[in-house]
Amino acid sequence: MKTWTKEERYRVLKSAGELRDLHERTVQSEYRQHYHIQSVTGLLNDPNGFVFHDGVWHLFYQWCPWGAVHGLKYWYHTVSEDLVTWKNMGICIHPDTLYDNKGAYSGSALPTNDNLYLYYTGNHRDENWKRKSYTCLVDLKDDGKAVKLPPLFGPNENYTEHQRDPKIIHHPDTGKYYIVLGAQTKDQRGCVIIYTSDFPTKGWRFAGKLKVPGFENFGDMWECPSIETISGHDVLLFCPQHLKLPGRGGSIHHSGYLLGHMDWDNLIFTPDNTSFHVLDFGFDSYAAECAANPGDKNKATLVAWMGLPDASYPTDDEDWSGCLTLPRELRVCDRRLIQQPLSELRALRGKKIDLETTDILPRVCEAELISRGGDLTLRLFAKTDGSGGLLIDYDDAAKEITIDRSGLYHRFNTVWGEQRTRPLPKGLSHLRIFIDRSSVEIFVNDGDAVFSSRIFPTKGEERLCIKGDASVHLWELKCAVEDAFVID
Ligand code: FRU
Repeated sequence: MKTWTKEERYRVLKSAGELRDLHERTVQSEYRQHYHIQSVTGLLNDPNGFVFHDGVWHLFYQWCPWGAVHGLKYWYHTVSEDLVTWKNMGICIHPDTLYDNKGAYSGSALPTNDNLYLYYTGNHRDENWKRKSYTCLVDLKDDGKAVKLPPLFGPNENYTEHQRDPKIIHHPDTGKYYIVLGAQTKDQRGCVIIYTSDFPTKGWRFAGKLKVPGFENFGDMWECPSIETISGHDVLLFCPQHLKLPGRGGSIHHSGYLLGHMDWDNLIFTPDNTSFHVLDFGFDSYAAECAANPGDKNKATLVAWMGLPDASYPTDDEDWSGCLTLPRELRVCDRRLIQQPLSELRALRGKKIDLETTDILPRVCEAELISRGGDLTLRLFAKTDGSGGLLIDYDDAAKEITIDRSGLYHRFNTVWGEQRTRPLPKGLSHLRIFIDRSSVEIFVNDGDAVFSSRIFPTKGEERLCIKGDASVHLWELKCAVEDAFVID
Protein backbone atom coordinates (compact mmCIF):
# COMPACT_ATOMS: atom_id res chain seq x y z
CA MET A 1 0.00 0.00 0.00
CA LYS A 2 1.30 3.46 -0.92
CA THR A 3 2.35 5.80 1.88
CA TRP A 4 1.42 9.40 1.24
CA THR A 5 3.37 12.40 2.48
CA LYS A 6 1.46 15.38 3.84
CA GLU A 7 2.61 17.38 0.79
CA GLU A 8 1.16 14.79 -1.58
CA ARG A 9 -2.17 14.58 0.26
CA TYR A 10 -2.63 18.33 0.52
CA ARG A 11 -1.35 19.21 -2.97
CA VAL A 12 -3.47 21.95 -4.54
CA LEU A 13 -4.97 21.13 -7.93
CA LYS A 14 -3.92 23.81 -10.40
CA SER A 15 -5.39 22.52 -13.64
CA ALA A 16 -7.59 19.66 -14.83
CA GLY A 17 -4.75 18.40 -17.03
CA GLU A 18 -2.88 17.25 -13.92
CA LEU A 19 -5.51 14.53 -13.47
CA ARG A 20 -6.02 13.37 -17.06
CA ASP A 21 -3.70 10.34 -16.89
CA LEU A 22 -4.99 9.32 -13.48
CA HIS A 23 -8.57 9.48 -14.77
CA GLU A 24 -7.73 7.41 -17.87
CA ARG A 25 -6.19 4.77 -15.66
CA THR A 26 -9.08 4.90 -13.16
CA VAL A 27 -11.84 4.29 -15.73
CA GLN A 28 -10.09 1.09 -16.88
CA SER A 29 -10.79 -0.51 -13.50
CA GLU A 30 -13.09 -3.53 -13.59
CA TYR A 31 -14.61 -2.24 -10.36
CA ARG A 32 -15.92 1.07 -11.73
CA GLN A 33 -19.61 1.35 -10.91
CA HIS A 34 -22.36 1.51 -13.56
CA TYR A 35 -25.18 3.19 -11.65
CA HIS A 36 -23.65 4.64 -8.47
CA ILE A 37 -21.99 8.01 -8.07
CA GLN A 38 -18.26 7.40 -7.66
CA SER A 39 -15.08 9.45 -7.39
CA VAL A 40 -14.07 10.99 -10.71
CA THR A 41 -10.48 10.27 -9.60
CA GLY A 42 -8.98 9.71 -6.16
CA LEU A 43 -11.18 9.40 -3.09
CA LEU A 44 -14.87 10.11 -2.49
CA ASN A 45 -16.31 10.28 1.01
CA ASP A 46 -19.41 12.05 2.36
CA PRO A 47 -22.36 13.14 0.21
CA ASN A 48 -22.93 16.89 0.65
CA GLY A 49 -25.57 19.49 -0.22
CA PHE A 50 -28.17 17.00 -1.46
CA VAL A 51 -31.09 19.14 -2.66
CA PHE A 52 -33.80 19.60 -5.28
CA HIS A 53 -33.66 23.06 -6.84
CA ASP A 54 -35.28 24.45 -10.00
CA GLY A 55 -36.21 21.03 -11.34
CA VAL A 56 -32.79 19.48 -10.75
CA TRP A 57 -31.33 17.28 -8.02
CA HIS A 58 -27.89 18.44 -6.92
CA LEU A 59 -25.58 16.10 -5.07
CA PHE A 60 -22.00 16.95 -4.17
CA TYR A 61 -19.35 14.77 -2.62
CA GLN A 62 -16.20 15.17 -0.57
CA TRP A 63 -13.36 14.62 -2.98
CA CYS A 64 -9.59 14.26 -2.71
CA PRO A 65 -8.27 14.22 -6.30
CA TRP A 66 -4.92 12.48 -5.98
CA GLY A 67 -5.55 8.94 -4.83
CA ALA A 68 -7.31 6.73 -2.30
CA VAL A 69 -6.31 8.94 0.59
CA HIS A 70 -7.92 11.59 2.80
CA GLY A 71 -6.19 14.91 2.11
CA LEU A 72 -7.22 18.27 0.70
CA LYS A 73 -11.00 18.03 0.19
CA TYR A 74 -13.04 19.70 -2.57
CA TRP A 75 -16.80 19.59 -3.19
CA TYR A 76 -17.40 17.74 -6.47
CA HIS A 77 -20.77 18.43 -8.14
CA THR A 78 -23.17 15.95 -9.84
CA VAL A 79 -26.73 16.51 -11.07
CA SER A 80 -29.76 14.45 -12.00
CA GLU A 81 -33.32 15.00 -13.12
CA ASP A 82 -34.62 11.64 -11.94
CA LEU A 83 -32.27 10.55 -9.10
CA VAL A 84 -31.21 7.63 -11.29
CA THR A 85 -29.01 8.98 -14.08
CA TRP A 86 -26.23 11.28 -12.89
CA LYS A 87 -23.95 13.70 -14.70
CA ASN A 88 -20.55 14.94 -13.59
CA MET A 89 -20.43 18.74 -13.38
CA GLY A 90 -16.91 19.37 -12.05
CA ILE A 91 -15.53 21.01 -8.92
CA CYS A 92 -17.94 23.28 -7.08
CA ILE A 93 -16.03 24.39 -3.99
CA HIS A 94 -12.25 24.80 -4.08
CA PRO A 95 -10.39 25.06 -0.76
CA ASP A 96 -8.70 28.26 -1.89
CA THR A 97 -9.11 30.78 0.96
CA LEU A 98 -7.40 31.14 4.31
CA TYR A 99 -10.56 29.83 6.02
CA ASP A 100 -10.63 26.53 4.13
CA ASN A 101 -6.93 26.21 3.32
CA LYS A 102 -6.84 22.53 4.30
CA GLY A 103 -10.20 21.46 2.97
CA ALA A 104 -13.78 22.35 2.09
CA TYR A 105 -15.39 19.87 4.47
CA SER A 106 -18.93 18.51 4.61
CA GLY A 107 -22.12 20.51 4.67
CA SER A 108 -25.59 21.03 3.25
CA ALA A 109 -27.70 23.15 0.90
CA LEU A 110 -30.57 25.60 1.26
CA PRO A 111 -32.68 26.43 -1.77
CA THR A 112 -34.49 29.78 -1.57
CA ASN A 113 -36.67 31.41 -4.23
CA ASP A 114 -33.67 33.05 -5.86
CA ASN A 115 -30.60 31.29 -4.55
CA LEU A 116 -29.00 27.99 -3.83
CA TYR A 117 -26.79 28.40 -0.76
CA LEU A 118 -24.18 25.86 0.24
CA TYR A 119 -22.98 25.73 3.86
CA TYR A 120 -19.73 23.90 4.54
CA THR A 121 -16.90 23.64 7.03
CA GLY A 122 -13.74 25.50 6.14
CA ASN A 123 -11.00 23.35 7.61
CA HIS A 124 -8.26 25.83 8.43
CA ARG A 125 -4.87 24.77 9.75
CA ASP A 126 -2.08 27.11 10.76
CA GLU A 127 1.64 26.55 10.24
CA ASN A 128 1.74 24.37 13.40
CA TRP A 129 -1.08 22.27 11.95
CA LYS A 130 -3.51 23.56 14.60
CA ARG A 131 -7.05 23.27 13.28
CA LYS A 132 -9.80 25.89 13.28
CA SER A 133 -13.21 25.28 11.74
CA TYR A 134 -15.16 28.03 10.01
CA THR A 135 -18.77 27.76 8.91
CA CYS A 136 -18.61 29.02 5.35
CA LEU A 137 -21.17 29.99 2.74
CA VAL A 138 -21.31 29.73 -1.03
CA ASP A 139 -23.91 31.20 -3.34
CA LEU A 140 -24.20 28.75 -6.23
CA LYS A 141 -25.20 30.66 -9.35
CA ASP A 142 -27.38 29.26 -12.15
CA ASP A 143 -24.35 29.00 -14.43
CA GLY A 144 -22.70 26.69 -11.86
CA LYS A 145 -20.31 29.35 -10.56
CA ALA A 146 -19.73 29.14 -6.80
CA VAL A 147 -19.41 32.60 -5.23
CA LYS A 148 -17.91 32.51 -1.74
CA LEU A 149 -19.46 34.88 0.83
CA PRO A 150 -17.67 35.78 4.08
CA PRO A 151 -17.66 32.94 6.67
CA LEU A 152 -20.71 33.02 8.95
CA PHE A 153 -18.80 32.25 12.15
CA GLY A 154 -15.58 30.72 13.41
CA PRO A 155 -14.76 28.05 15.96
CA ASN A 156 -16.55 27.95 19.30
CA GLU A 157 -13.91 28.25 22.07
CA ASN A 158 -15.90 26.10 24.50
CA TYR A 159 -15.51 22.95 22.42
CA THR A 160 -12.46 21.14 21.03
CA GLU A 161 -11.20 21.67 17.49
CA HIS A 162 -13.75 19.06 16.29
CA GLN A 163 -16.67 21.20 15.11
CA ARG A 164 -17.96 20.60 11.62
CA ASP A 165 -20.56 19.53 9.05
CA PRO A 166 -23.21 22.30 9.10
CA LYS A 167 -26.75 21.21 8.35
CA ILE A 168 -28.92 24.21 7.53
CA ILE A 169 -32.55 24.02 8.67
CA HIS A 170 -35.34 26.51 8.01
CA HIS A 171 -38.05 26.17 10.63
CA PRO A 172 -41.38 26.31 8.79
CA ASP A 173 -43.42 27.80 11.69
CA THR A 174 -41.11 30.45 13.16
CA GLY A 175 -39.23 31.28 9.96
CA LYS A 176 -35.97 31.03 11.91
CA TYR A 177 -32.85 29.44 10.46
CA TYR A 178 -30.70 26.96 12.37
CA ILE A 179 -27.32 25.43 11.70
CA VAL A 180 -26.59 22.21 13.54
CA LEU A 181 -22.94 21.22 13.82
CA GLY A 182 -21.25 18.04 14.98
CA ALA A 183 -18.91 18.76 17.89
CA GLN A 184 -16.85 17.42 20.76
CA THR A 185 -16.98 18.75 24.32
CA LYS A 186 -13.73 19.51 26.14
CA ASP A 187 -14.20 16.27 28.10
CA GLN A 188 -14.37 14.40 24.81
CA ARG A 189 -18.04 13.65 24.39
CA GLY A 190 -19.82 13.78 21.06
CA CYS A 191 -22.60 16.36 20.78
CA VAL A 192 -24.49 18.74 18.51
CA ILE A 193 -24.17 22.51 18.81
CA ILE A 194 -26.70 24.88 17.30
CA TYR A 195 -26.51 28.39 15.81
CA THR A 196 -29.48 30.48 14.79
CA SER A 197 -30.35 33.51 12.69
CA ASP A 198 -33.32 35.28 11.14
CA PHE A 199 -31.52 35.32 7.79
CA PRO A 200 -29.68 32.63 5.83
CA THR A 201 -26.62 34.76 5.07
CA LYS A 202 -26.00 36.92 8.18
CA GLY A 203 -26.76 37.51 11.86
CA TRP A 204 -25.74 34.05 13.10
CA ARG A 205 -25.33 33.57 16.85
CA PHE A 206 -24.63 30.59 19.09
CA ALA A 207 -27.90 29.23 20.51
CA GLY A 208 -26.57 26.37 22.64
CA LYS A 209 -25.74 22.71 22.86
CA LEU A 210 -28.50 20.28 21.95
CA LYS A 211 -29.66 18.27 24.94
CA VAL A 212 -30.35 14.64 24.07
CA PRO A 213 -31.41 12.93 27.33
CA GLY A 214 -29.81 9.50 27.64
CA PHE A 215 -27.13 10.20 25.02
CA GLU A 216 -24.76 12.44 27.00
CA ASN A 217 -21.98 9.87 26.78
CA PHE A 218 -22.28 8.22 23.41
CA GLY A 219 -19.06 8.31 21.38
CA ASP A 220 -16.41 11.02 21.48
CA MET A 221 -17.47 13.04 18.41
CA TRP A 222 -20.71 13.24 16.45
CA GLU A 223 -20.12 13.78 12.74
CA CYS A 224 -22.64 14.85 10.11
CA PRO A 225 -25.67 15.53 12.34
CA SER A 226 -29.06 16.56 11.02
CA ILE A 227 -32.58 16.93 12.34
CA GLU A 228 -35.30 15.98 9.89
CA THR A 229 -39.06 15.82 10.07
CA ILE A 230 -40.33 12.78 8.19
CA SER A 231 -43.97 11.65 8.15
CA GLY A 232 -44.60 13.99 11.11
CA HIS A 233 -41.79 12.48 13.24
CA ASP A 234 -38.57 14.23 14.26
CA VAL A 235 -35.43 12.30 13.48
CA LEU A 236 -31.94 13.09 14.76
CA LEU A 237 -29.35 11.55 12.44
CA PHE A 238 -25.67 11.50 13.36
CA CYS A 239 -22.47 9.45 13.25
CA PRO A 240 -21.07 8.78 16.72
CA GLN A 241 -17.37 7.93 16.61
CA HIS A 242 -15.10 5.61 18.56
CA LEU A 243 -17.96 3.65 20.04
CA LYS A 244 -18.66 -0.09 19.90
CA LEU A 245 -22.26 -1.23 19.45
CA PRO A 246 -23.69 -4.73 19.88
CA GLY A 247 -23.93 -6.66 16.62
CA ARG A 248 -21.55 -4.32 14.77
CA GLY A 249 -18.39 -6.45 14.89
CA GLY A 250 -15.41 -4.40 16.02
CA SER A 251 -16.67 -1.38 14.10
CA ILE A 252 -16.20 1.99 15.80
CA HIS A 253 -17.90 4.32 13.30
CA HIS A 254 -21.67 4.24 12.91
CA SER A 255 -24.36 6.09 11.01
CA GLY A 256 -27.65 6.04 12.83
CA TYR A 257 -30.62 7.89 14.20
CA LEU A 258 -32.98 8.54 17.08
CA LEU A 259 -36.70 9.08 16.66
CA GLY A 260 -38.24 11.55 19.05
CA HIS A 261 -39.39 15.11 19.51
CA MET A 262 -37.40 18.25 18.76
CA ASP A 263 -38.07 21.27 20.96
CA TRP A 264 -36.43 24.15 19.08
CA ASP A 265 -37.28 26.73 21.78
CA ASN A 266 -35.33 24.87 24.45
CA LEU A 267 -32.96 22.92 22.17
CA ILE A 268 -33.92 19.51 23.51
CA PHE A 269 -34.29 16.41 21.39
CA THR A 270 -36.24 13.90 23.48
CA PRO A 271 -35.83 10.38 22.09
CA ASP A 272 -38.92 8.15 22.10
CA ASN A 273 -36.88 5.41 23.76
CA THR A 274 -33.30 4.45 24.47
CA SER A 275 -32.65 2.88 21.05
CA PHE A 276 -30.03 4.27 18.75
CA HIS A 277 -31.00 2.72 15.41
CA VAL A 278 -28.27 1.83 12.97
CA LEU A 279 -29.28 3.15 9.54
CA ASP A 280 -27.68 0.40 7.54
CA PHE A 281 -26.68 -3.08 8.71
CA GLY A 282 -24.07 -3.65 6.00
CA PHE A 283 -20.33 -3.12 6.26
CA ASP A 284 -19.96 0.17 4.39
CA SER A 285 -22.23 3.07 5.14
CA TYR A 286 -21.51 6.43 6.73
CA ALA A 287 -22.32 10.14 6.76
CA ALA A 288 -25.88 9.77 5.42
CA GLU A 289 -27.57 12.89 4.13
CA CYS A 290 -31.28 13.59 3.57
CA ALA A 291 -32.96 15.73 0.95
CA ALA A 292 -36.51 16.99 1.36
CA ASN A 293 -38.87 15.72 -1.30
CA PRO A 294 -40.55 18.46 -3.30
CA GLY A 295 -44.28 18.13 -2.93
CA ASP A 296 -44.39 15.30 -0.37
CA LYS A 297 -43.51 16.17 3.23
CA ASN A 298 -44.04 12.59 4.33
CA LYS A 299 -41.00 11.40 2.50
CA ALA A 300 -37.35 12.29 2.29
CA THR A 301 -34.57 10.87 0.18
CA LEU A 302 -31.41 9.58 1.80
CA VAL A 303 -28.00 8.90 0.38
CA ALA A 304 -24.82 7.82 2.19
CA TRP A 305 -21.15 7.21 1.56
CA MET A 306 -20.70 3.48 0.86
CA GLY A 307 -17.51 3.51 2.86
CA LEU A 308 -16.09 4.17 6.30
CA PRO A 309 -13.46 6.42 7.87
CA ASP A 310 -10.04 4.78 8.43
CA ALA A 311 -10.94 1.94 6.05
CA SER A 312 -9.10 0.61 3.03
CA TYR A 313 -10.46 -1.03 -0.11
CA PRO A 314 -8.96 -3.21 -2.86
CA THR A 315 -9.06 -0.33 -5.38
CA ASP A 316 -6.75 1.75 -3.17
CA ASP A 317 -3.92 0.17 -5.16
CA GLU A 318 -5.52 1.56 -8.33
CA ASP A 319 -5.49 5.04 -6.74
CA TRP A 320 -9.24 5.50 -6.40
CA SER A 321 -11.89 4.61 -3.84
CA GLY A 322 -15.39 5.45 -2.79
CA CYS A 323 -18.93 5.61 -4.10
CA LEU A 324 -22.31 6.69 -2.76
CA THR A 325 -25.24 4.40 -2.00
CA LEU A 326 -28.34 4.47 -4.14
CA PRO A 327 -30.68 7.26 -3.08
CA ARG A 328 -33.44 5.73 -0.93
CA GLU A 329 -36.96 6.80 -0.14
CA LEU A 330 -37.40 7.29 3.62
CA ARG A 331 -40.59 6.90 5.60
CA VAL A 332 -41.32 6.38 9.27
CA CYS A 333 -43.31 3.25 10.04
CA ASP A 334 -43.71 1.34 13.33
CA ARG A 335 -41.30 3.68 15.15
CA ARG A 336 -38.44 3.19 12.72
CA LEU A 337 -37.15 4.47 9.40
CA ILE A 338 -38.01 2.42 6.36
CA GLN A 339 -35.66 2.73 3.38
CA GLN A 340 -36.91 1.70 -0.03
CA PRO A 341 -35.20 1.76 -3.39
CA LEU A 342 -36.72 4.52 -5.54
CA SER A 343 -39.46 3.36 -7.91
CA GLU A 344 -37.64 5.24 -10.71
CA LEU A 345 -34.90 2.58 -10.56
CA ARG A 346 -37.15 0.14 -12.40
CA ALA A 347 -36.32 2.14 -15.54
CA LEU A 348 -32.80 0.69 -15.36
CA ARG A 349 -34.01 -2.87 -15.77
CA GLY A 350 -32.74 -4.48 -18.95
CA LYS A 351 -32.71 -8.11 -20.05
CA LYS A 352 -34.42 -10.59 -17.73
CA ILE A 353 -32.15 -13.54 -16.94
CA ASP A 354 -33.61 -17.02 -17.18
CA LEU A 355 -32.29 -18.87 -14.14
CA GLU A 356 -33.35 -22.22 -15.65
CA THR A 357 -30.58 -21.85 -18.21
CA THR A 358 -27.77 -20.13 -16.31
CA ASP A 359 -26.47 -19.58 -12.82
CA ILE A 360 -23.91 -16.94 -13.83
CA LEU A 361 -24.61 -13.74 -11.94
CA PRO A 362 -24.22 -10.59 -14.06
CA ARG A 363 -21.86 -8.04 -12.52
CA VAL A 364 -24.53 -5.33 -12.84
CA CYS A 365 -28.00 -6.56 -11.96
CA GLU A 366 -31.04 -6.55 -9.67
CA ALA A 367 -32.50 -9.62 -8.01
CA GLU A 368 -35.89 -9.90 -6.36
CA LEU A 369 -36.80 -12.86 -4.16
CA ILE A 370 -40.15 -13.62 -2.62
CA SER A 371 -39.80 -16.22 0.10
CA ARG A 372 -42.38 -18.97 0.51
CA GLY A 373 -41.20 -19.52 4.09
CA GLY A 374 -38.41 -21.43 5.82
CA ASP A 375 -34.64 -21.01 5.66
CA LEU A 376 -33.11 -19.25 2.69
CA THR A 377 -29.45 -19.15 1.69
CA LEU A 378 -27.92 -17.23 -1.20
CA ARG A 379 -24.35 -17.05 -2.35
CA LEU A 380 -23.58 -14.16 -4.68
CA PHE A 381 -20.43 -14.56 -6.76
CA ALA A 382 -19.78 -18.08 -5.49
CA LYS A 383 -16.88 -20.12 -6.85
CA THR A 384 -17.40 -22.75 -9.60
CA ASP A 385 -17.90 -25.45 -6.95
CA GLY A 386 -20.64 -23.38 -5.28
CA SER A 387 -18.62 -22.43 -2.21
CA GLY A 388 -17.53 -18.96 -1.09
CA GLY A 389 -19.07 -15.75 -2.40
CA LEU A 390 -21.09 -13.25 -0.41
CA LEU A 391 -23.34 -15.26 1.87
CA ILE A 392 -26.87 -14.05 2.66
CA ASP A 393 -28.35 -16.48 5.13
CA TYR A 394 -31.82 -16.35 6.69
CA ASP A 395 -32.31 -18.71 9.64
CA ASP A 396 -36.03 -19.18 10.17
CA ALA A 397 -35.73 -20.83 13.60
CA ALA A 398 -33.58 -17.98 14.94
CA LYS A 399 -35.55 -15.40 12.89
CA GLU A 400 -32.41 -13.57 11.82
CA ILE A 401 -30.57 -12.72 8.66
CA THR A 402 -26.77 -12.78 8.38
CA ILE A 403 -24.49 -11.36 5.73
CA ASP A 404 -20.97 -12.78 5.57
CA ARG A 405 -18.35 -11.55 3.13
CA SER A 406 -15.46 -13.71 4.35
CA GLY A 407 -16.01 -16.18 1.47
CA LEU A 408 -14.88 -13.74 -1.22
CA TYR A 409 -11.31 -13.69 -2.47
CA HIS A 410 -10.85 -9.98 -1.70
CA ARG A 411 -11.12 -9.56 2.06
CA PHE A 412 -10.62 -6.15 3.63
CA ASN A 413 -11.29 -4.23 6.85
CA THR A 414 -11.48 -7.64 8.50
CA VAL A 415 -10.65 -6.25 11.97
CA TRP A 416 -14.19 -4.83 12.08
CA GLY A 417 -15.70 -8.27 11.45
CA GLU A 418 -16.88 -10.03 8.30
CA GLN A 419 -20.41 -10.88 9.43
CA ARG A 420 -23.44 -8.75 10.23
CA THR A 421 -26.68 -10.11 11.68
CA ARG A 422 -30.05 -8.45 12.06
CA PRO A 423 -33.07 -10.02 13.80
CA LEU A 424 -36.23 -10.31 11.67
CA PRO A 425 -38.94 -10.99 14.28
CA LYS A 426 -41.61 -11.28 11.58
CA GLY A 427 -39.51 -13.61 9.41
CA LEU A 428 -38.23 -13.05 5.88
CA SER A 429 -40.70 -12.33 3.13
CA HIS A 430 -38.90 -10.28 0.51
CA LEU A 431 -35.43 -9.33 -0.71
CA ARG A 432 -34.41 -6.80 -3.34
CA ILE A 433 -30.72 -6.88 -4.14
CA PHE A 434 -28.90 -4.28 -6.21
CA ILE A 435 -25.52 -5.38 -7.50
CA ASP A 436 -23.10 -3.04 -9.19
CA ARG A 437 -19.53 -3.84 -10.19
CA SER A 438 -18.16 -3.36 -6.67
CA SER A 439 -21.15 -3.09 -4.36
CA VAL A 440 -24.24 -4.83 -3.13
CA GLU A 441 -27.30 -3.27 -1.45
CA ILE A 442 -29.82 -5.64 0.08
CA PHE A 443 -33.29 -4.32 0.97
CA VAL A 444 -35.00 -6.74 3.35
CA ASN A 445 -38.79 -6.94 3.75
CA ASP A 446 -39.60 -3.78 1.78
CA GLY A 447 -36.98 -1.63 3.44
CA ASP A 448 -37.35 -2.80 7.04
CA ALA A 449 -33.57 -3.39 7.02
CA VAL A 450 -30.85 -2.49 4.53
CA PHE A 451 -27.34 -3.91 4.15
CA SER A 452 -24.92 -1.90 1.97
CA SER A 453 -21.45 -3.24 1.31
CA ARG A 454 -18.58 -2.98 -1.08
CA ILE A 455 -17.54 -6.30 -2.64
CA PHE A 456 -14.88 -6.95 -5.27
CA PRO A 457 -15.55 -10.27 -7.01
CA THR A 458 -12.77 -11.76 -9.13
CA LYS A 459 -12.75 -13.89 -12.30
CA GLY A 460 -13.47 -17.26 -10.70
CA GLU A 461 -16.29 -15.80 -8.58
CA GLU A 462 -19.42 -15.60 -10.71
CA ARG A 463 -22.11 -18.06 -9.69
CA LEU A 464 -25.45 -17.40 -8.03
CA CYS A 465 -26.42 -20.26 -5.69
CA ILE A 466 -29.80 -20.34 -3.96
CA LYS A 467 -31.08 -22.86 -1.41
CA GLY A 468 -34.62 -22.52 -0.08
CA ASP A 469 -38.16 -21.98 -1.26
CA ALA A 470 -38.50 -18.67 -3.06
CA SER A 471 -39.49 -17.22 -6.40
CA VAL A 472 -36.54 -15.41 -7.93
CA HIS A 473 -36.33 -12.76 -10.63
CA LEU A 474 -33.13 -11.36 -12.04
CA TRP A 475 -32.56 -8.46 -14.41
CA GLU A 476 -29.47 -6.94 -15.92
CA LEU A 477 -29.32 -3.22 -15.14
CA LYS A 478 -28.35 -0.44 -17.54
CA CYS A 479 -25.63 2.09 -16.95
CA ALA A 480 -26.73 5.36 -15.33
CA VAL A 481 -23.53 7.25 -14.57
CA GLU A 482 -21.07 8.59 -17.09
CA ASP A 483 -17.47 8.14 -16.16
CA ALA A 484 -16.75 11.51 -17.75
CA PHE A 485 -13.62 13.57 -17.12
CA VAL A 486 -15.15 16.85 -15.97
CA ILE A 487 -13.02 18.78 -13.53
CA ASP A 488 -13.19 22.59 -14.06
C1 FRU B 1 -17.03 12.39 7.83
C2 FRU B 1 -16.05 13.55 7.79
C3 FRU B 1 -16.70 14.85 8.18
C4 FRU B 1 -15.82 15.86 7.53
C5 FRU B 1 -15.46 15.17 6.24
C6 FRU B 1 -14.09 15.49 5.72
O1 FRU B 1 -16.63 11.34 7.03
O2 FRU B 1 -14.95 13.28 8.63
O3 FRU B 1 -16.87 15.04 9.56
O4 FRU B 1 -16.46 17.08 7.31
O5 FRU B 1 -15.56 13.79 6.49
O6 FRU B 1 -13.91 14.93 4.46
